[in-house]
Amino acid sequence: MRPDPLDSSKLAGQRVGWRAALPVNHHQGDARLARIIVVGSIARDEVIRLSEPLRGGAHLNGMTAPARLGGGGANTAVALAAAGHQVILLAAVGRDTAGDGLLADLAAAGVATASISRLARPTTHSWLLLDPTGERTVINVARCEEDAPPSRLLDLPADAVYVRSRRRDLAPLLAAKAADALVVAHAPPIEPGARPAHVVVASRSDLEPGALRFPQVLGNTISDGLARWTVITDGAAGARAFGGGETLAVSAPTIRPVDTTGAGDAFAAGLLHALVQGRPMAEALTVAVRFGTEATLWPTSGLPVEAVHRLLREV
Ligand SMILES: Nc1ncnc2c1ncn2[C@@H]1O[C@H](COP(=O)(O)OP(=O)(O)O)[C@@H](O)[C@H]1O
Ligand SMILES: [Mg+2]
Repeated sequence: MRPDPLDSSKLAGQRVGWRAALPVNHHQGDARLARIIVVGSIARDEVIRLSEPLRGGAHLNGMTAPARLGGGGANTAVALAAAGHQVILLAAVGRDTAGDGLLADLAAAGVATASISRLARPTTHSWLLLDPTGERTVINVARCEEDAPPSRLLDLPADAVYVRSRRRDLAPLLAAKAADALVVAHAPPIEPGARPAHVVVASRSDLEPGALRFPQVLGNTISDGLARWTVITDGAAGARAFGGGETLAVSAPTIRPVDTTGAGDAFAAGLLHALVQGRPMAEALTVAVRFGTEATLWPTSGLPVEAVHRLLREV
């Protein structure tokens, strides 16, 4: 039988399964450092801040800002490293100056970059259109991805794995990893068996309205029955988690977003940070929403380290 990482939190006072392996973090009292592998993209994000709402066919005014580190994998990895975890990012960048710069940024943020492939193709590049409400529209103009799934995942010891990738061929790797690590996966892909994970996370904005009628069925289908929780993030409305007949809802504080880029990635970092400490989903969801909302207050794609340190004192 598979170990059940999330159920182990119910065994009061006991540390079992993958949690037994977590080293104590001496810097943060009771908090525990974990070895976390993040599978996802690294991108060079270029931003245009629009002075009016985005409208197809219009002639709009905007301001550019310097390119910055982004991509779903990088954003979550940076926040988890700032929270004190040992983070390995599994991704690819090009053998170009953009790739050099992003790798240097990641290393400076404390993310382990040795498992990042360098490919003979351009580094992933996105344009972000930011409207005056801080909401972002992402346009991918180059995607740097390995041809084969990153099987080196199986050789890396981990307490937890987080996946934010649309590639369809990761399922066997995640299923193998789920035997001894907590696996959290972002969807899409929305396909049966595509993400064998203990926790499936999806953003409402990425889903067809119909998919949300039975979120737990969605999580079950995507995870091949492995998911204990299906978590749906919902921007300014916060997030909900559905598991075993239970529904948890956490609303987000009302704020004025500066830049919503990476909100879902910061949410994932908060969720993982709390779950690897053995906190129950009700608490983890609250931490995750706080991380997500914080991300919208900064003109960056990932959470700045000082923001993470402040969050750690509050949650
Ligand atoms: N406008 C907002 N106001 C407050 N919190 C927000 C806002 N937008 C996002 N968040 C926070 O970030 C989390 C993830 O945002 P969401 O927009 O659902 O994900 P994504 O970045 O994938 O589109 C939300 O659950 C919430 O905590
Ligand atoms: Mg959003």
